[in-house]
Order: sequence, then C-alpha cells, then structure tokens
Amino acid sequence: MPRLPSSALFLLALTPFLAAPAAAQLPAETPAQVEARLRWWTEARFGMFIHWGLYAQAARHEWVKNYERLTDAQYQPYFDHFDPDLFDPRAWARMAKAAGMKYAVITTKHHEGFCLFDSQFTDYKATNTPAGRDLLKEWVDAFRAEGLRIGFYYSLLDWHHPHYTVDRCHPQRAGSDAEYARLNEGRDMNVYRQYVRDQVRELLTRYGTVDVLWLDYSFPSGAHGKGRADWDSERLLAMVRELQPGVIVNDRLDLLDVPGGWDFRSPEQFKPREWVKLDGKRVPWETCQTFSGSWGYYRDEMTWKDEKQLLVLLIETVSKGGNLLLNVGPTARGTFDQRAQDRLRAIGEWTAVNERSIRGCTQAPEGFAVPEQSLLTWSPAKNRLYVHLVDWPMGQLTLPGYAGKVKYAQLLHDASEVKFGGKKTTIWLDEGAREGDLVLALPMPKPAVTIPVVELFLQ
Ligand code: GLC
Repeated sequence: MPRLPSSALFLLALTPFLAAPAAAQLPAETPAQVEARLRWWTEARFGMFIHWGLYAQAARHEWVKNYERLTDAQYQPYFDHFDPDLFDPRAWARMAKAAGMKYAVITTKHHEGFCLFDSQFTDYKATNTPAGRDLLKEWVDAFRAEGLRIGFYYSLLDWHHPHYTVDRCHPQRAGSDAEYARLNEGRDMNVYRQYVRDQVRELLTRYGTVDVLWLDYSFPSGAHGKGRADWDSERLLAMVRELQPGVIVNDRLDLLDVPGGWDFRSPEQFKPREWVKLDGKRVPWETCQTFSGSWGYYRDEMTWKDEKQLLVLLIETVSKGGNLLLNVGPTARGTFDQRAQDRLRAIGEWTAVNERSIRGCTQAPEGFAVPEQSLLTWSPAKNRLYVHLVDWPMGQLTLPGYAGKVKYAQLLHDASEVKFGGKKTTIWLDEGAREGDLVLALPMPKPAVTIPVVELFLQ
C-alpha cells in the first residue's frame, strides 16, 4: 500500500463525518397509491384551520411579535397571562361539524415558538402557563370524538428558540450582514434542527393517528432566508412518513422538485384562477383563507368576508378541484368570536341542504360550459352536475349546449322538480337560446337559500 502523507490519512479518517448525510429515503408510491392515501381528504373538500397561541392575547395578528419587533421579554406577559378558562374543544368541534367541515388543522406551535402541547423539549408550552395542561391533547380528543379528522400545523420558524438563527423574518432582524453575524453568534441551527425533529416526532407518536401535517414554511430566495437545508427537509419528511405512513403533508418544506416531497399545494389568501397545476399537470390543492385579515384572533380587524363571499369561496374552490381550509382564530379565553360563530352558522345552514354539491365533488367534465352567473361542480360517483346560482336569474336559465345531456333536474335544497326544455319545445323560449341549449324554468322569487343549487342528473 502506498504511503499516504499523514494529513491525507487524517482527512480520510474524517471522511464519514464530512460527507453529506445520506439522501433520505422517501417512500416511492405510485400515483394510484398517492390518490388512495389522499382520498378521504379530496372527498372532504372542506376543513377548519385553527390559529391559537399566545398572540390571541395581544389580539392584533399572529405576527405581532415580528411586526412590532418585540423582544422575548416584551412578549412574556402573554405567556404569563395565558388562561383560556372557557376552552371547550367539544364546542369548537361541533361548530366545525355543523358548518360542514370534515377535518381540522390546529397550530401546535406557531412562529412565536409557543407550544400548545406538553413537549419534553421546551418549557415554552401551555403546561407552564396558567392553563397548566396539554391543550392539544384535549383538542385532539374532542375533535376525534365528533368524528373529524385531525391535522397538526407546526411552524418551522421559531422566534423564541435560542438557537434559531435570526433571519429576515425574525422579530430581531438586522439591518446589515455584519449585524446578522453578530446577532447569530452562538446560535447553532444544528441544535434547532434537532429540536424540530424531536418535536415533530412527539406530535406524531403521542396523539394517535394524525391525518394531516401542515409544516410552515420556507423562504429560501434572497438574503437571510431559510429553506430545505435549514430544516433538513428530506430527512424530516422521511421520518414523518415512517412514523405516520398515511399522513397527508402540505408543500412548504421547500421540496417541490423532489418526488414524494409534498402531497398538496397550499395557496394562501388567494383564489386560483383554475385548477392548480405544477409542470402543466393538475395537482391536489387546498387554499387556506381567513374570515378577516388575520389568522390569529384580531379584535380590531374589520375586513370580515360575508356569508355569501365565504360560500362562493367554498364552491368556487371545489369547482376547480380544490379544498378549502377556512380559518378561525379563537380568543385567549378559548372561545370563537361572535363574528366567526355567525359565519360558521350561516355556512352550516347552507351546507345542511347543499352538501351534495360539495362533498366528493370536483370540476365539471369538459363539454359542460359554465352558465351565466353560476359555478359548476360535479359528482363523478353520481354523475350529477350542480349549478350554483350565485345570482338568481329572472325565471329561467340557459344551459349552453346541454340539450340531450340531462335526464332530470331539481332544486337541491328541497328536491323540487325544475322543468326544462330545448329551443323548439319550450314555451319559455329565450331569445338568446340556440339550438342545442337547454332552458331551465325557475321560480321567479329566489328561494330562501343564500346560493340556490340546481342538481342535474346527467344522461
Ligand atoms: C403564513 C403565515 C402565517 C399563517 C400561514 C397560514 O405563512 O406566516 O401566519 O399561519 O401562512 O397559511
């Protein structure tokens, strides 16, 4: 064996430690297997997001620590006074269920770093506040008991952990590279990465089956951001898949280009124009939306969407093949704000009689043009088309090119027949109707339903 210089031997001995960690093994699933794993979620279409943490007490946005550049000391009063004495997760679950939601995703830890659960890796948790207990455990039990699937949101960002390096999204963000370097002296992301792994492991091993894992978020582009290398995303996700093979995971680990690196896209506070695509292919997607301009409870925020806007959001999402995760930011007493309760109730009144146009539904097949002022969804299992009349028409509605495609039609909420005819046979002849159109005869007054739906049984 040739003699190597001693420095080379030294490097050789170090090689196993210097080498990049072996690429994580993400399970290889066929598209059919992925579809089967996501089926309950795709059918559900509608879930509740819950943002609840210490920021509920500031009551001025869950990013308040960042927006106001608060220090840990300035934020401490919210920890010291966190006492949700009216927390009744069964009541929350019933409100979600009554609204027509089938799953719920809660913030186990948001960017502020506070944990609702009794983690053994931090003292910054509900157990050590006046609440004095694992609030997540109670939440999980309550939501399961009401038959809802459960999801955990976990923030990758952490504005409290001493080893999380200060970045451009941090409350203590700096003005220059030199200042960043100074602020980050002594902070070791390796320690934080391990903390994330340990906590995600706790979440996935202590609470039974977790149906959804919602990791938030990556911001790799530009200076002082964070992405897959910071979270060790692939290895983290491999652990997640191993611990909970059935779990559905969002797309914020910065692994969009990695096969198996995400299950659905998560456009936030924005309505996609069409079915969300990646590389030209339709993908599963869920849009998350707030009632008003904040995720956490915000007392003085007034830009609340009304009942009809929220229903349009739900219907339009399903009409483009997506899911809606609609957020509630509970108060620090542990209650849902009256404004949230009123909206949930209104949505529930609608879904109680119109659920069939949402659950298990998706975008209408090619060849069904969208009639005026309406939104279409389609049930592949029943082969029924749902025409949501966002604006109630004047006694009749033209379905362009639908002649010969419909067997029977009724209003969905009361199963009352809707008569229809073509251009030649109908007495409600619409001057605008053309050969091949179908004309529905509707009552002149709008039924007492926010958005009435016509159910078409297709040939
Ligand atoms: C964002 C925000 C956040 C919210 C989330 C929901 O990334 O940082 O406050 O939790 O989106 O999608």
